[in-house]
Amino acid sequence: MKILKVMTLVGLTASLLAAAPQKNRDAKFKEIVKTGQKSSKMLMQTLGKNMKKNMKAGGPIKALDFCSKEAYNLTEKVNTKLPKGVNVKRISMKFRNPANEPQGNEANVLEALAKLKNANVVLPKHLIEKVDEHTYKYYKPIIINKQVCLKCHGDVKDTDLKRAIQTNYPIDKAMGYKMGDLRGAVVVTIKK
Ligand code: HEC
Repeated sequence: MKILKVMTLVGLTASLLAAAPQKNRDAKFKEIVKTGQKSSKMLMQTLGKNMKKNMKAGGPIKALDFCSKEAYNLTEKVNTKLPKGVNVKRISMKFRNPANEPQGNEANVLEALAKLKNANVVLPKHLIEKVDEHTYKYYKPIIINKQVCLKCHGDVKDTDLKRAIQTNYPIDKAMGYKMGDLRGAVVVTIKK
């Protein structure tokens, strides 16, 4: 009887010890997802709000002018508000601004998302890439999910707008999208 009790205790302790690192990993993972969600939401809300305001004030040409001058600055401003070691940006295989071209492994992740989408897989809300022991990247797919996106990323018919896009972005790749297309991703780099 006594032996049995000791055995049970040993077994229980062993399984608890085994569970502890797993639990730590789960907690760390949750923290990364939370930081990613919060940071990407902050960027998308900031950009969305400002674009809406400019569309209302002067239509797509004014909004385009605003985006081309301020999208980057707004992104940097959001970054100054994030905790140390956290950085947010947008990437796209068919980018408008060359600054948003995917770097290194980011292109593999985007291509994998595009492949899944083409295979009619419902995309996950986010993906986590482990870059190294202390660095993670949170990816949130960006879908063309509003008609307004097509004004500047669809088959742009307005010749003035088209000219303005081509003047500001001579190597623009970000036209010709359709509703529901994968546009790119928000990437949050989290260094612990
Ligand atoms: C008024 C025109 C306009 C509208 C409307 C618009 N965009 Fe853009 N978009 C731009 C411009 C200009 C850039 C480049 C910004 C920069 O220089 O950083 C851009 C960049 C992007 C990028 C970053 C990658 C890249 O190509 O450089 C993503 C992602 C994106 N837009 C998604 C969207 C989505 C999704 C919508 C709809 C909710 C949308 N856009 C609506 C003009 C527009």
